[in-house]
This record gives sequence, C-alpha cells and structure tokens, in this order.
Amino acid sequence: MAAISGLIRVMEKAARKAGARLRRDFGEIEHLQVSRKGPSDFVSKADQAAERTIWDELKAARPDWGFLFEEAGEIEGDPTKPRFIVDPLDGTTNFLHGMPHFAVSIAVQEPRLDGRGWGEVTAGIVYQPITDESFWAEKSRGAWLHDRRLRVSSRRHLDESLIATGIPFANKGDAGQWTKIYHGLAPQVAGIRRFGSAALDLAWVAAGRYEGFWESDLSPWDTAAGCLLVREAGGFVSDYKGRSLPICDSEVLAGNDALHTRLHKILVTSLKA
Ligand code: IPD
Ligand code: CA
Ligand code: CA
Repeated sequence: MAAISGLIRVMEKAARKAGARLRRDFGEIEHLQVSRKGPSDFVSKADQAAERTIWDELKAARPDWGFLFEEAGEIEGDPTKPRFIVDPLDGTTNFLHGMPHFAVSIAVQEPRLDGRGWGEVTAGIVYQPITDESFWAEKSRGAWLHDRRLRVSSRRHLDESLIATGIPFANKGDAGQWTKIYHGLAPQVAGIRRFGSAALDLAWVAAGRYEGFWESDLSPWDTAAGCLLVREAGGFVSDYKGRSLPICDSEVLAGNDALHTRLHKILVTSLKA
C-alpha cells in the first residue's frame, strides 16, 4: 500500500481541481464544434484557467517554490527550493476535437547542489480527468496508479509489443527522422499508436499498457512527470543517443527493462539508413 506523501497530496489536489474544470469545459466542446467561431478560443481559455487553478493551489501550499509553466513560462522562486513543472492540458488537440484523451501533468524538479540551474525530477503526477486515473511517482518510492504499484510490462518479444509515438505535425518535429524510425520499427512490433498526449504515453508505459514510446521535439512540461513514472516503474528512458539524463530531453525513447536496448538499436540503425 502506498504511503502518499504530503507533497503528492498537494500535487494531486491541484491536478484534480484543474481536471474537474477541464472536465466541465470538455462537456461544452461538443456544442462548440458546430458553432461558426469554432472551439479554439474556448480551449485556450480552458487551458489558461486550468493553469491558473494549479498555480493558486500549489502557490498556497509551497509559497516559495518556483514554477515552469507551459503557458505562463518561468516564475522564479527561492533558488534553493525545488520548482514545479506544469502542463495544465497535455493533449490539447484531442480536447479541441472532443476526444477524451488528455491529462494534467505536474512534476517537481530539484535545484542542482552546485547552485547552477536545475537537476533531478523527484516527484510527478499525470492525471487523466475523464477516466479519473491518477498516475504518480516519487523518486525511490515507486510509481503508482492510485494505491496500486505500477510495473512496466514484462513482454520481452518485440512482435508482441505495442509502441506509442508522437508524429511530427505543422512544422513541429523532423518528419524525415520520424519516418525512418517508423520504417525500422513498424515491421517488427505488434502495433504503433499515436494517441496525442506525451504525458499519458509515458504514464501508460509505466503502467505496462505500452512496451515503449518515442518522440522528438518535446518540452519539459510534456515529459518531466512521465519520465519519472517510467523510471520508478522499472523502465528506462533515454534520448536518441541512449543517454539517460536527469530530466528528459526533447528526444525521448522509453521502454520496459527488457526492450529499451533493442528499441534503441533499431532507432540508431534506422537513422543511419
Ligand atoms: C502535445 C502532446 C502531443 C505531442 C506534442 C505536444 P500539448 O502537448 O503531448 O502528444 O505530440 O508534441 O506538444 O500541446 O497538447 O500540451
Ligand atoms: Ca504538452
Ligand atoms: Ca499543453
């Protein structure tokens, strides 16, 4: 049984409060799809309102910590204290199109001991408002779905493995690079999925639903919580060079313990082709 820390409780309360708001707003989207103005303005307001809710909650609980928000950017706090990294709505395009696959992501990053910037991520939560699933992890204390301990999948064979990815779009990402990796990997695995929320993709690797995940051009708010979840569930996360960094880089390759090395080999070989 998980002994939930005070910090995770604070983060979960903030994520749930923002999630309840997003859930309400999501209910409106269906009507807006058919309106002439379309739902884009409404979604960016929902996104900002969720961020504000998280800010208010976390600020009240940890007044001297800093923030890195997707929307509001960096807000400095006491440099000797940790900071929160927040994506109030990961999966915006799904939300905008009335698809229920989106999440709130909050992580905690520690300052480096030498005082030079930011270091390890030590806590994270990915909350999916529509399914009410709360994936959380703390460094050295495991990854959990509510009070159930998470382990990455035990599948060891590529041909049984389901792999998630993010496909470059609208001038974001390197479509040529993605295509090479896809061509190398697709014939060897049971399936490839593009569901549209990197935070949930990583949480689902931690939960053993996917065996692996790759995407480039990601930002810390997309991945900070999810990468900790995978590591604490016994999986591996690296960049495309195979380096395991204290906070995920813009390139992420995640996999269960049995398959990460093989996925990395295929990625490297495909990129040379
Ligand atoms: C996006 C999602 C998506 C990924 C994009 C991200 P947003 O975040 O995580 O899955 O492919 O690269 O930007 O914009 O929905 O917060
Ligand atoms: Ca995001
Ligand atoms: Ca977002």
